[in-house]
Amino acid sequence: MPLPPNASDTVMPKLPYLGARLRSLYQWVEAAQKSGQYTSIWDCCCDHGYLGIKILARGLCEQVHFVDQVPHLITDLQQRLTCYPAARYQALAADASQLRFSEDQRHLVIIAGVGGEHSVEILRKILPRHPDQPLDFLFCPATTQFDLREYLADQGFALLHETMVTEKGRDYEVIGARWNPQTDGLPTVSKTGSHWDLGNEVHQRYLTKLITHYQRRTLGDNASEAQRILNIYQATWDSLACR
Ligand SMILES: C[S@@+](CC[C@H](N)C(=O)[O-])C[C@H]1O[C@@H](n2cnc3c(N)ncnc32)[C@H](O)[C@@H]1O
Repeated sequence: MPLPPNASDTVMPKLPYLGARLRSLYQWVEAAQKSGQYTSIWDCCCDHGYLGIKILARGLCEQVHFVDQVPHLITDLQQRLTCYPAARYQALAADASQLRFSEDQRHLVIIAGVGGEHSVEILRKILPRHPDQPLDFLFCPATTQFDLREYLADQGFALLHETMVTEKGRDYEVIGARWNPQTDGLPTVSKTGSHWDLGNEVHQRYLTKLITHYQRRTLGDNASEAQRILNIYQATWDSLACR
């Protein structure tokens, strides 16, 4: 990576500490970049930009794009990024759903720390602008994972990666998925996940929690939708239990 002007005088700030969740995303990016898969990485809904800063500092791609809809977060971030070469990043105060991705770059779009339903709202606006262009996404929804998974499955996203990570007693799914996959052989993203192993304590705890959550929701408003989702998780559980 080229050094910034007067690099010898520049005091590089301490890198932000990444908790287990962001570290899991970072490690996936780092592994993907061993073969240089992406030239542009988008830390959408970046908040303080911890993940993107680490990707930028480690020189993992040509350009890191920070996007958050809250302008003062982006102003603060811009001040913390001045020690990096300006050509290697941009920080945008924008709604991630308004983004457009150039065709001459290989993009990875990270959408993490927002709900699954909100991730879907963002995708619904982005995807029609890219009807034929392959785009890779890395998701880590904070809630409503099923809504995101169902949307990805219905849209024919190919699965690149899925795992679970626990941080501060909360379990999260991490899903890497490709829009417009142009190569055969990748499975479609599953509505509930295809990596579960009931012998794994964390997987069992997580699926039990989801099933209990949807069982409870069948008692409230929108009971038929809750029952529909519950049936899908229950079928997943039953097929895992039969293995
Ligand atoms: C909880 S933080 C997530 C930070 C980080 N991505 C993570 O996973 O820890 C959520 C951030 O998403 C931003 N956000 C929510 N919807 C957005 C949108 N449509 N476009 C851009 N930023 C958005 C919020 O302003 C907030 O800073």
